[in-house]
Amino acid sequence: MNEEIVLSAAEMVREKLENEGSGHDWFHIERVWKNAIKIGRTEKVDMFVVQLAALLHDLADDKIVTSEEESISEINYWLEGEGVPAGVIEKVLMIIQTMSYKGGNGRSLGSLEAKVVQDADRLDAIGAIGIARAFTYGGSKGQPIFDPQYEVREEMTKEEYRNGKTSTVHHFYEKLLKLKDLMNTESAIQMAQERHQFMEQYLEEFFKEYMLEADE
Ligand code: ADP
Ligand code: NI
Repeated sequence: MNEEIVLSAAEMVREKLENEGSGHDWFHIERVWKNAIKIGRTEKVDMFVVQLAALLHDLADDKIVTSEEESISEINYWLEGEGVPAGVIEKVLMIIQTMSYKGGNGRSLGSLEAKVVQDADRLDAIGAIGIARAFTYGGSKGQPIFDPQYEVREEMTKEEYRNGKTSTVHHFYEKLLKLKDLMNTESAIQMAQERHQFMEQYLEEFFKEYMLEADE
């Protein structure tokens, strides 16, 4: 029964995000779902909540929808229609609302289920996949690969990002290289190590090539 609801959520999300072009496509959701299951198995969590939250986590993201509130009530309505118990719906919606990197309007992550899903989402932002997603996102915003005129700033407002006052290589320093230290669960901390090292190697090679070109 729960399994059927999870598969039905996967199908609904797949249809919705199939043509999404900024790195929040269905394949991102599928990877987060799989990783959330993997991490969740090592923690004492309600896997039904974890799986639903992983599948639905980007449907209310303000990068892809105009109204976060409206999307939350649509998700609520959909879950009710599937016969998901009210207690589960409440937990799932809470996770979706609070798990963005910016801290979801200042609310802190309450449940262990939320921590598992957040870790799975963060893992997908680092490593080889994270690199691919960053350049996909940057490209969709017309952002340069690297522009030496920008300073690397640790704290940037959402507006500054939106206005393109950054480059994708800067984004690594502003966010991606910090994620390994922000993992909540032991298994995600482990999984983040190799991915983090790979990004560091990538950047080293990037600047090596960049300097060579500058010398010519
Ligand atoms: P998530 O959906 O994983 O919570 P975000 O919505 O913050 O993450 O970003 C989605 C993807 O786009 C991530 O892989 C992130 O690294 C990338 N991204 C976000 N902002 C930028 C940016 N300014 N430059 C390049 N990549 C970005
Ligand atoms: Ni995501």
